[in-house]
Amino acid sequence: MTSLQGRDYIETQDLTTDELNHLLESAKDLKAKFQRGEPTPLLPNQTVFLLFFDKSTRTRNAFEAGATQLGAHAHFLDSNVTQISHGETAKDTGIILGSMGHGIAIRHDLILDEGNKFMRNVADATDVPVINMQCDVDHPTQTLADIMTIREVFGDDLRGRKIAVSWAYSPSYAKPLSVPQGLITLMTRFGMDVTLAHPPEYRLMDRCMEAARANAKAAGTKFEVATDMEDAFRNADIVYPKSWGPYDLMLQRRDAKTEERMHQIEEECLSLNSRYKSWICDSQKMQLARTSAIYMHCLPADRGAEVTDDVLDGPQSVVFQEAENRLHTAKAIMAATMRERPFK
Ligand code: CP
Repeated sequence: MTSLQGRDYIETQDLTTDELNHLLESAKDLKAKFQRGEPTPLLPNQTVFLLFFDKSTRTRNAFEAGATQLGAHAHFLDSNVTQISHGETAKDTGIILGSMGHGIAIRHDLILDEGNKFMRNVADATDVPVINMQCDVDHPTQTLADIMTIREVFGDDLRGRKIAVSWAYSPSYAKPLSVPQGLITLMTRFGMDVTLAHPPEYRLMDRCMEAARANAKAAGTKFEVATDMEDAFRNADIVYPKSWGPYDLMLQRRDAKTEERMHQIEEECLSLNSRYKSWICDSQKMQLARTSAIYMHCLPADRGAEVTDDVLDGPQSVVFQEAENRLHTAKAIMAATMRERPFK
């Protein structure tokens, strides 16, 4: 799609619905070709740099395998072993990586108010597309795979379908807010009625809530907020329960001056999470949703805390189809945005 060539993919809010639909069509086509064993060398000899400030299984491998399958090369960079860890700026990093390749993909998701700014500063410094592999605001390669998966199950017309995006208990770590924020902003644009549920301490960023409300109004869909998982699940077609960190503590972590303070705040987050152990997706709660409802999670899921094994491994779960779709959507995004040098 020529209109996306050279463009950044930082938030789904930056793209029109037509552009997102084009990426979804492309991902569907790339998936069919992958399954037939048909080569798709759309980006021969191109290089995409994958810069990670956090761990990853699905995203990294979707981009690395995807680049290979497009005839490109993905170059993995751990931010800790780059000069960023000695203070080199986003701008200088963007100029340098942009001068050596054709795309820069970044994951910077753990600190509120940092990752999205970093990506936009990189993007301002280079002509190559910058792709968000998850920041503090959005996880737009995940949510594109999510909508692809929902369409595979329910078809393209999702009007009137209800998705429940709920907080869930986690003992492992204070997870980023970007998945629920990405879901409420994107699903409201694609015909679905969205119900968000969370305990009081787990609010999301104001700007994402405002975007979700505005998107729902513009699309004629509903965006509602519930105070418990059960309410959100009632009559849902799609349930998407997952954990995220408590907002005010995440802000304190952003402002922490020492590693020791960061560690203390993480402990406080987990202690607060543990007050809400009943927020687990189990078979009883699944019965509140429609009988045809599907269970989704971006993974990794905390088994026995966010969700029980029988739900995650059960017939309503589409999590592995959803994870595979990360590959096809990552390829669609790279193929649409990256281009050969010299740039026009
Ligand atoms: N869902 C997701 O982004 O997975 P990873 O953290 O493994 O990349």
